[in-house]
Amino acid sequence: MSFPRFQAAFLYLFLLFGSSLVVESAIGVNWGTISFHKLKPTTVVDLLKSNRIQKVKLFEADPSVLKALMGTGIQVMIGIPNEMLASLSSSLLASDLWVRHNLSSYVVKGGADIRYVAVGNEPFLSSYNGEYQSYIMPALLNLQQSLARANLASYVKLVVPCNADAYESSLPSQGAFRPELTQIMTQLVSFLNSNGSPFVVNIYPFLSLYGNSDFPQDYAFFEGTTHAVTDGSNVYYNAFDGNYDTLVSALTKIGYGQMPIVIGEVGWPTDGAMGANLTAARVFNQGLINHVLGNKGTPLRPGTPPVDVYLFSLLDEGAKSVLPGNFERHWGIFSFDGQAKYPLNLGLGNKVLKNAKHVEYLPSRWCIANPFRDLTDVANHIKLACSVADCSTLNYGGSCNGIGAKGNISYAFNSYYQLQMQNEKSCEFDGLGMITFLDPSIGECRFLVGVTDSRSLSSPPSSASGIAWVSLIWFFWTLVL
Ligand SMILES: *[C@@H]1O[C@H](CO)[C@@H](O)[C@H](O)[C@H]1NC(C)=O
Ligand SMILES: *[C@@H]1O[C@H](CO)[C@@H](O)[C@H](O)[C@H]1NC(C)=O
Ligand SMILES: *[C@@H]1O[C@H](CO)[C@@H](O)[C@H](O)[C@H]1NC(C)=O
Repeated sequence: MSFPRFQAAFLYLFLLFGSSLVVESAIGVNWGTISFHKLKPTTVVDLLKSNRIQKVKLFEADPSVLKALMGTGIQVMIGIPNEMLASLSSSLLASDLWVRHNLSSYVVKGGADIRYVAVGNEPFLSSYNGEYQSYIMPALLNLQQSLARANLASYVKLVVPCNADAYESSLPSQGAFRPELTQIMTQLVSFLNSNGSPFVVNIYPFLSLYGNSDFPQDYAFFEGTTHAVTDGSNVYYNAFDGNYDTLVSALTKIGYGQMPIVIGEVGWPTDGAMGANLTAARVFNQGLINHVLGNKGTPLRPGTPPVDVYLFSLLDEGAKSVLPGNFERHWGIFSFDGQAKYPLNLGLGNKVLKNAKHVEYLPSRWCIANPFRDLTDVANHIKLACSVADCSTLNYGGSCNGIGAKGNISYAFNSYYQLQMQNEKSCEFDGLGMITFLDPSIGECRFLVGVTDSRSLSSPPSSASGIAWVSLIWFFWTLVL
């Protein structure tokens, strides 16, 4: 690219996004969309705006999401799923097409301010057994060439979000990349460095606590610890700093100790496991935000906090795989419908979280177990309902774990019924299900009502009065229990 063209492109982009260049907030959010009950993208963008969130990370280039972000000045990182790496690594045409279709068409006047492209997501996770490893460098080189051809190379940076299990050690100062990754990490970091890209890492003290019963609980938080880690002349008071400096040491070992670091994901879930609850999530996230915005940095990088920190996550995603654990669907600082779960000061100007506005819910109706039926044959229905709908809060450590056998059945029925957009037939369960107008939520256990989406609504129930009648019986039935 010739120098004058570069200047022109930069001036153009500066004029485009000039205002957002001035606002530099370090706290952003991950916006994942693996949900049964999706809010409209415009509703979510309004939620971002009312909470003054200026940076958002997406897991793929979803056209409706990118359209909603156009003209907002919100800075965007878009992800390329691991499954696309093979084709992008083997074909410059594929990477040209990706850039044209998913980038150039949005980075226009009044468009979406896309600053980063995340190439793959945690591609070095040990559980992938190296499946994506060999694609990373060729995919980066192709995409960089495609960016240059589209005159975007000076503005859009390629990054690769890494999982924290890419490096290891018992003490931060001993940190090193996993031996089998040393070579590719050296290539990757050298590439990032020559393009002015940061190293993106995901850090999860919750997972350390969840996966290891010996892990000192207070070390996962930022409130001070009775288990400080002494490393030479440095002392670590929280797992986040320890982990971060382990990465700094690993980068130093391969010759890039000064590489800027972005936290691609960090957070705490609120449900689905012991230790995943509202209090812990609030204390962790607030502690993290205060720690980062305090600009103290870490022992190995004093005074230099991470460039940006993307909280995981903005919203709960009820359709995610629970393979990692039942908590996986409950990382949001907002529930699936954009309601704040706990008070949190993001440090962006508002002292508390503001809820999503104009959320369009389905009618206030729930599906529950019919109290007058023998429920002994219900097991298969529950199995089926919970194999597609979300029942993750019913399990040990979840907010609905203590609601009893009948409660379990009702919860499963309702989850399925809402997933089916309250289609009447979806509450039949061979006559074992029943629709009610009374919210069956019990204590902390919330029986959700879905939100409308672009799919057409199911027809309204044929006999509303009949439903009200059974609801009344249900009401008295619960009173006598
Ligand atoms: C653009 O991104 C989407 C979402 O990741 C993907 O499905 C699509 O194939 C991409 N387009 C091209 C031309 O690669
Ligand atoms: C919430 O989780 C924290 C640890 O993550 C735990 O110490 C605390 O007891 C939990 N609180 C409740 C009410 O379960
Ligand atoms: C409700 O379901 C959960 C999850 O399957 C189970 O752990 C719990 O024991 C059930 N409760 C009763 C009373 O059956």
